[in-house]
Amino acid sequence: MKREIITTADGSKTIHLPEWDEQYHSKHGAIQEAYHVFIEMGLFFYLKNYLPKTIKILEIGFGTGLNTFITQIEAKKLNITVDYTGVEAYPVVFSEIEKLNYVTQLNASEKHFKMLHTSDWGKQIEVSRNFALTKRKQFFSEIEDKNAFHLIYFDAFGARVQPELWTEAIFQKMYDALTQYGVLVTYSAKGSVRRAMQTVGFTIERLPGPPGKREMLRAVKSE
Ligand SMILES: C[S@@+](CC[C@H](N)C(=O)[O-])C[C@H]1O[C@@H](n2cnc3c(N)ncnc32)[C@H](O)[C@@H]1O
Repeated sequence: MKREIITTADGSKTIHLPEWDEQYHSKHGAIQEAYHVFIEMGLFFYLKNYLPKTIKILEIGFGTGLNTFITQIEAKKLNITVDYTGVEAYPVVFSEIEKLNYVTQLNASEKHFKMLHTSDWGKQIEVSRNFALTKRKQFFSEIEDKNAFHLIYFDAFGARVQPELWTEAIFQKMYDALTQYGVLVTYSAKGSVRRAMQTVGFTIERLPGPPGKREMLRAVKSE
């Protein structure tokens, strides 16, 4: 499939798939979206409510590593320990990664960003003192973790282009992978997505979305 690097409204770049008219991040601002949906509504919410010593995060769609990178930066600032797992079936090639401008936009460590991408799949690495990363080259449908993560960043391509990833079967896997009171955040606010999450047992909140999106969803495993 054809791929292009584009610049989003906040100046940060992302990958655009013209055949699907879909991006890895919001055209209204890749970094802004990542901060709003995953960091503020997910990471900060979980830390504030449950005060874990180490937070275990699962990312659905490692992609460009932007969410991972921002989480690593925030972990250092907050002085928390993060054990992060990123699942991805189609790793982004390094020649594309090199064209992204996250290091300069975030004024962050090039060494750490490179480490996210050059590290082996299937092995845990320590990116920095308080951030361990395991990348798993795997289809989402193959996830079988049980009771293992506090927080899930659900960042699959939209239901318009990959409806099979926004189903009860996938959300059941997400529910099972979370610990009690575990939280899942996603940029999507579609009614069908919300209903699929509710059917498997999640309690859902509709929250204000990032720039360009009215709403997003936060799901809590409350039983
Ligand atoms: C919206 S992008 C993720 C963006 C990423 N979180 C980031 O910060 O760059 C969705 C990702 O899901 C991956 N993907 C698509 N279908 C998949 C599947 N069935 N199993 C695993 N990964 C898949 C794509 O390759 C893509 O990297």
